[in-house]
Amino acid sequence: MTALNTSARIAVIGAGAMGAGIAQVAAQAGHPVLLLDNRPGAAAQAIEGIDRQLGKRVENGKLSAESRSATVARLQAVEAIETLAACDLIIEAIVENLEVKRALFRQLEGICGEHCILASNTSSLSITSIAAQLDHPQRLLGLHFFNPAPVMALVEVVCGLASDPALAECLYDTARAWGKKPVHTRSTPGFIVNRVARPFYAESLRMLQEGAADCPTLDALMREAGGFAMGAFELTDLIGHDVNYAVTCSVFDAYYGDFRFQPSLIQKELVDAGRFGRKSGRGFYDYAEGAERPAAQSLAAAAKPACVVVEGDLGPAAALVERIEAAGIEIVRRDGAGLLRVGEAVLALSDGRMAAERARDEGLRNLALFDLALDYAKASRLAVAFAAGTDAAAREAVAGLLQAAGIAVTEVTDSPALVVLRTVAMLANEAADAVLQGVGSAADIDLAMCAGVNYPKGPLAWADAIGVGTVLGALDHLQRSYGEDRYRPSLLLRRLHCAGERFHG
Ligand SMILES: NC(=O)c1ccc[n+]([C@@H]2O[C@H](COP(=O)([O-])OP(=O)(O)OC[C@H]3O[C@@H](n4cnc5c(N)ncnc54)[C@H](O)[C@@H]3O)[C@@H](O)[C@H]2O)c1
Repeated sequence: MTALNTSARIAVIGAGAMGAGIAQVAAQAGHPVLLLDNRPGAAAQAIEGIDRQLGKRVENGKLSAESRSATVARLQAVEAIETLAACDLIIEAIVENLEVKRALFRQLEGICGEHCILASNTSSLSITSIAAQLDHPQRLLGLHFFNPAPVMALVEVVCGLASDPALAECLYDTARAWGKKPVHTRSTPGFIVNRVARPFYAESLRMLQEGAADCPTLDALMREAGGFAMGAFELTDLIGHDVNYAVTCSVFDAYYGDFRFQPSLIQKELVDAGRFGRKSGRGFYDYAEGAERPAAQSLAAAAKPACVVVEGDLGPAAALVERIEAAGIEIVRRDGAGLLRVGEAVLALSDGRMAAERARDEGLRNLALFDLALDYAKASRLAVAFAAGTDAAAREAVAGLLQAAGIAVTEVTDSPALVVLRTVAMLANEAADAVLQGVGSAADIDLAMCAGVNYPKGPLAWADAIGVGTVLGALDHLQRSYGEDRYRPSLLLRRLHCAGERFHG
């Protein structure tokens, strides 16, 4: 089955934030669209709002006046559900309540033709469950847009137990024809994005709780080393802690309390206090007028060393050596286990063990571990943890070396897998389990995380790039350090690692 053609009649029920956006997307793609809401006048108001939005785009030269008027002409507000009788696809974006959605779809079955595809934009309810009481549950699927729908590229096409796979293909192709990046997924809690993204928030919250570093420092590391657009604290302040905490609780409950998804007491306290983030003026940060954002912690400037010894291959961090060399520091190469020696200090990429543990295991003095970066050729900051007992001169040598290469150095408390490595390992772990459980393909999961939440790299492509074994090792060490089920590695990671395989090709 191919995409619905543009003469197909679309209806959107619910003219709130999501419904209005979805109606706009469908109308812009050329479909006649009926918009219905049970609040009298809401659909007409939503269309006026769309017209205003498009008007701004015309003023900015981003849209032609003809496109604007053609799009708005395709949108029609309706007040009676019976007017949807001749529709080919009805997308529901009403209140997030199972019984209300079920009742609406039952009512629609009595009104629409048998060929009409029914879709729900639900974020958290089971498609299987919404469809359960329908006469034709095979025609109900999830079509999960992200907010704001006209801007965000991702659409999750969700199959419930009874959904017809041919209709999933049709919605997938239709979403693509609407300029979106669709992915296929199964009706499981959080679908792809709201499940795989949980560790992004959870690991920063845990590190904050354990005093590894403060919010601005952890956020800066996720941005400047991890390449994420925002750190977890600034992002949850933007999303709203009430919303983000509710999603975490719902996923945690839906997975029967799996500790991988355990909510954070720190975030709960913010919610309890009414500190929802930007919208309430305060979250992790203060948004009052004139309030200053505290700066990330960085080590003081230290002298540039003349020489560094590179022992063996630094693996994912190899580009760091080129940067050091470009800074005019002499490089002496030797065989070895992938270490840098500068002054009295030894510097190595974290493998998931704490610095103190690795120093003891390997008999290393003055050991500093550095964190994962998305791209060591570009990272402007790196986290470093020193083993207990590392002397001041060794600390300065490490700081001076990285600073000379143009990298701000942030010391974090000696913690397993530091900051970016820990987060990326947990994201890849969750993504791997989602592949293992048939929630989505590796390609779709990576696409979903890049298009839905703007990750700089899909978690599975990232695991391939640094090595599936590197991710597995970090998780094994995390699990051993904490003794917690939360860090248990996915069976798929271990299977691929043992077979010498990758997620992509
Ligand atoms: N807001 C988001 O970021 C987001 C993202 C993806 C999916 N969703 C999902 O989209 C759906 C809508 O969310 P929203 O943020 O647009 O909500 P909203 O509150 O902005 O809009 C919901 C609209 O539905 C109308 N409505 C409620 N019950 C109705 C009924 N029985 N019949 C007709 N209209 C009815 C309301 O009057 C309101 O205008 C929910 O299922 C939500 O989980 C939301």
